[in-house]
Amino acid sequence: DASTSPAISDVSSRTPPYPKLLKRLHEVRRILPDRPLTLAEKILYSHLENPEESLLTGTRNGADIRGKANLKLKPDRVAMQDASAQMALLQFMTCGLPSTAVPASIHCDHMIVGERGADVDLPESIKGNSEVYDFLESAGKKYGIEFWPPGAGIIHQTVLENYSAPGLMMLGTDSHTPNAGGLGAIAIGVGGADAVDALVDAPWELKAPKILGVKLVGQLSGWASPKDVILNLAGQLTVRGGTGFIIEYFGEGVESLSSTGMATICNMGAEVGATTSLFPFSSAHIPYLEATHRAPIALAAKTIASSPGAHNLLRPDSGAQYDQVITIDLSTLEPHINGPFTPDLSTPLSKFAETVKTNEWPEVLGAGLIGSCTNSSYQDMTRAESLVQQAKAAGLKPKTDFFITPGSEQIRATLERDQTLNTFSEAGGMILANACGPCIGQWKRTDGVEKGTNNAIFTSYNRNFRGRNDGNTKTMNFLASPELVTAMTFAGSTTFNPMTDSIPLENGQTFRFQPPQGKDLPSEGFAQGNPNFLPSSAKPDASVPVKVDPSSTRLALLEPFAPFPSTELSGLRVLVKVKGQCTTDTISAAGPWLKYKGHLPNIAENTLIGAINAETGETNVVYDVADTEARANGMGIPALAKKWKNEGREWLVVAEHNYGEGSAREHAALQPRYLGGRVILAKSFARIHETNLKKQGVVPLTFANEADYDKIAACDEVRTEGLLDTLSNQGQGEVELVVTGKDGKETRVKTKHTLSKDQCQFILAGSALNLLAAKANK
Ligand code: F3S
Repeated sequence: DASTSPAISDVSSRTPPYPKLLKRLHEVRRILPDRPLTLAEKILYSHLENPEESLLTGTRNGADIRGKANLKLKPDRVAMQDASAQMALLQFMTCGLPSTAVPASIHCDHMIVGERGADVDLPESIKGNSEVYDFLESAGKKYGIEFWPPGAGIIHQTVLENYSAPGLMMLGTDSHTPNAGGLGAIAIGVGGADAVDALVDAPWELKAPKILGVKLVGQLSGWASPKDVILNLAGQLTVRGGTGFIIEYFGEGVESLSSTGMATICNMGAEVGATTSLFPFSSAHIPYLEATHRAPIALAAKTIASSPGAHNLLRPDSGAQYDQVITIDLSTLEPHINGPFTPDLSTPLSKFAETVKTNEWPEVLGAGLIGSCTNSSYQDMTRAESLVQQAKAAGLKPKTDFFITPGSEQIRATLERDQTLNTFSEAGGMILANACGPCIGQWKRTDGVEKGTNNAIFTSYNRNFRGRNDGNTKTMNFLASPELVTAMTFAGSTTFNPMTDSIPLENGQTFRFQPPQGKDLPSEGFAQGNPNFLPSSAKPDASVPVKVDPSSTRLALLEPFAPFPSTELSGLRVLVKVKGQCTTDTISAAGPWLKYKGHLPNIAENTLIGAINAETGETNVVYDVADTEARANGMGIPALAKKWKNEGREWLVVAEHNYGEGSAREHAALQPRYLGGRVILAKSFARIHETNLKKQGVVPLTFANEADYDKIAACDEVRTEGLLDTLSNQGQGEVELVVTGKDGKETRVKTKHTLSKDQCQFILAGSALNLLAAKANK
């Protein structure tokens, strides 16, 4: 009953727009007659702004949509975590709209440390980040975005408990947004600028993904858990294997999984690079939606899922074709352990001890950490609890530090009521705040392991890149199910196999774990928890002022970028000619800079600091015009960019292949633009970054002839020819650069571009947001 949950004031605003989606599906069927569709295609194509345009333009009458068509989508909802929400909201604010076009939510989870337990860590983190939280809360209230305060939970767990639903399409400003696919939603992780598209009702563009079918057969039992499905799959696919694909699960094995187990599997689809992952409607969805106070959604989804083929939005058509199929037999699936340092290095439990010895990985276990957005469900925690209880009965306590991170206040309060947390605490476990904490480097380790020391930890998290948890690049993080992590803490050894090995007891006897057992859902329902952790109202209130202190070092309001001039660009100067790889990390470094994500002038101080100067081999050293020959007064790249900005001179960067690979980080496009960058000339671009540049009004050009890279040097002056015409002619036309060297000699460099009609409009307006703002204020 929705009325029993104050968290859900209006369940209808959280129900996917089923009548509209079914109408669209009908239209899609008309455009693609006699074509069985996968579930992912049904949900995605039902969210197209104009199905006919998206599905038929550039394809052979719709026969080759996947990998070809450019989908213009209208998502139902947006969720943002606190670190990425800052720039998303600052950008949204420049459009001058009174409220968001689709329902949205903000989740404060990434900036909370894990050190001494929730009671101490949470108030301290709130104090340290108050100006950011105040900003997010006030913006949420003003624009009608539900604000979940620090302590309320981790974005993906909260989304699963409140917003995800079968057939929904949502965007989230976090890479593990696909977690929501466990409830049959298409949920895609994006950068802030993409989220703003949805917030202002502009279509969000996606190259139609291919579909990878994963067929599940058999049934899980014993030690094997949903986490092992994805750990195994990551080993098969590798970290790039899912790129350009949506992973769609199907097969009779689906019915044996809990909703939260399916969410865990979808969560880690991000580790293989998939656009997203999802499950079809399953009988497990009904009790989960009911238990989370959304019975009307369960009923609506059940009705749609049982309707005849053509109208069934929530299951694939029979005969649907996948681009690739992988089969996993749940009945024979072994627990897996993935790592260190990469999530696709997958070892079955039975081989792990031997692998540790062969690789000379540490045999002593440093710590066990369970929970996080990936694995903190009632099922996960009660299965782990059953192991702690068995060990307790034998008189055992964990031999290593043991940390528990609940994913939300709802799950924490339920586990507290049902004594699960008590079981963990009595065993010596530390309950951390309902937040990301150690998963995102906010772990202040107090066990004396010095930075630079080899050591091993086991976590039930999803990522294990070097340094991610404790800032120590020598810490080997092995990913496993919460059950396995828990059992390992009692052995204190990485070579322990709880399925076959025993732990010696003081009385001379030995102890062997029985397989874990837990419950999918609490029999007494979910507890609500602390009412202070409930979200703010989704009703906009124009009278609320958005709080940004003008003297803040962490937040700054954005000024719109100037429109494109009514002439060709001239007088541009080459700021740096970059050699080799230039990722979004090279252009906008993370780590300590993350705290300036909401302050463009401050974070711009890191612009291109990882770039290698092609002419000198130096990193982050460039020379101003007079110094280029003498190489006398080298300075940092951001310093020279700022100097030129102050002198009113705009600039360009020259680079090699795959410029901007890595993440969707929009700062990597915003910062150069802010400092006066107008053109990036590269041998090739990473697709997402190329789009981000255009959105911010920077022109990405590639060399028509790669060898021309050698004809251009730092501080050369450049003017464009044909750019203005190309922009005015909706992308039709050629662009040449006329390069004047320091000896006064002119060279012409032919270029290529991928500017679409819409993108030309962005650049002419100064940025995509300027264009949206102009349209919104018409
Ligand atoms: Fe947070 Fe880690 Fe998940 S950073 S959102 S708990 S992946």
